[in-house]
Amino acid sequence: MTTDHPSLDVLLERNRSWAELMTGSDPEFFARLARQQAPRYLWIGCSDSRVPANQILGLLPGEIFVHRNVANVVVHSDLNCLSVIQFAVDVLKIRHIIVCGHYGCGGVAAAMRDEKLGLIDNWLRHVQDVRNRNRDELHKLPDAHARLLRLCELNVLSQAINVAETTLLQDAWARGQPVEIHSLIYGLDNGILHQLGPSLAAPTAVEQRKRALGW
Ligand code: CO
Repeated sequence: MTTDHPSLDVLLERNRSWAELMTGSDPEFFARLARQQAPRYLWIGCSDSRVPANQILGLLPGEIFVHRNVANVVVHSDLNCLSVIQFAVDVLKIRHIIVCGHYGCGGVAAAMRDEKLGLIDNWLRHVQDVRNRNRDELHKLPDAHARLLRLCELNVLSQAINVAETTLLQDAWARGQPVEIHSLIYGLDNGILHQLGPSLAAPTAVEQRKRALGW
């Protein structure tokens, strides 16, 4: 059998080499991390294998707290995502939440085209809600490709609003805790991140964004 991907044994061997390399350049690296984590950022991104938070941002283990799901969706009743946000904001005192989508997102494309893929269709309903809510803007674009690019962006902007509207962020802002929500999109074809609109740091900014989107 020929295969172009490494076996588990090879992966484990690579892991040992990596750990040796890290310890070689910083003997205390793992000992320090084992005592505590103090990441400065929370990343909410797509599960897509081409969008790994640490590598894209050039960050080491210990520097970013990560939640990923298909199409970087933030749902008000998703206890998994909410628990990550709560731990990040209340316990780790993270000041920067990055909601990151990417162009060419398969989940967004499936939602756009009403593809039937199974259980995941229910998850992607949330992206279809974004599509439907912005139908007028999307209709003005010249073709399906342009609409897909824009829906990837609108999805990020919408999910960032959803983060801002959780009780977690509303409570943090009400008690004066500084937390900023940044909306980013990543280009699979060039590796570059772009910021979409201003960061959200208060309920007033959220209202401004909603007005800008015509909601
Ligand atoms: Co994706």
